[in-house]
Amino acid sequence: MKKIIVTIDGWSSCGKSTLAKQLAKKLGYVYIDSGAMYRAITLYFLRNHIDWSNENDVLNALNCIRLHFEYNPETQLAEIFLNNENVEYVIRDMVVAEKVSEVAAIPAVRTFAVQQQKYMGEKKGIVMDGRDIGTTVFPNAELKIFMTADMLIRVERRFLEMQIKNPNVTFKEVQSNLQMRDQTDSTREVSPLKMAEDAILLDNSKLTMEQQLDFALQLIQEKL
Ligand code: DC
Repeated sequence: MKKIIVTIDGWSSCGKSTLAKQLAKKLGYVYIDSGAMYRAITLYFLRNHIDWSNENDVLNALNCIRLHFEYNPETQLAEIFLNNENVEYVIRDMVVAEKVSEVAAIPAVRTFAVQQQKYMGEKKGIVMDGRDIGTTVFPNAELKIFMTADMLIRVERRFLEMQIKNPNVTFKEVQSNLQMRDQTDSTREVSPLKMAEDAILLDNSKLTMEQQLDFALQLIQEKL
């Protein structure tokens, strides 16, 4: 059966990874969370006190970073490893969320991540979510979805998710983090978040997960 590349870009916390995981499962495709790569790089920079305003320090640090994904049958997810350590969960912390957009805006960091992402899509049969997947990583992808949802709905969803891990997190904290990331991600010079011309807009503010999955599956049917 013909295999395609599906890209899902969009604003922070609008459910990209939920949809991407569901689609990958239905299609038997690999799901790759490209944001996890930027988060893992940020984690490395924070742990090793890298001064990311210094280009040389960034290049030296990137030389010491090996990222790979490993499928975990229990979670049915490709989990991210930083220098052979599973960091899938620790990269979701607020400490990383606060800095990741800044790190993801560094051109050398993007070159490093995008090169590996392109390689992962060589055999197709992949669903990748992020910010620049349909514009920069796979400009020729067969199906590009751009997701959005109302800000307050996004904050509420992320707040409920983060509260499970960290009961002290506040709604305001989550809101300012999302606003800050949206702003940084969409205004950076290299590969800013923007909808590809041939992407299909999916606003899920008023959709259930089932409805959004049906919408995307319908689009895939048309491509296969
Ligand atoms: O999808 P996420 O929230 O885990 O992504 C974390 C950050 O990484 C996000 O604020 C922007 C950045 N990112 C990016 O610049 N390009 C991508 N393809 C994916 C994520």
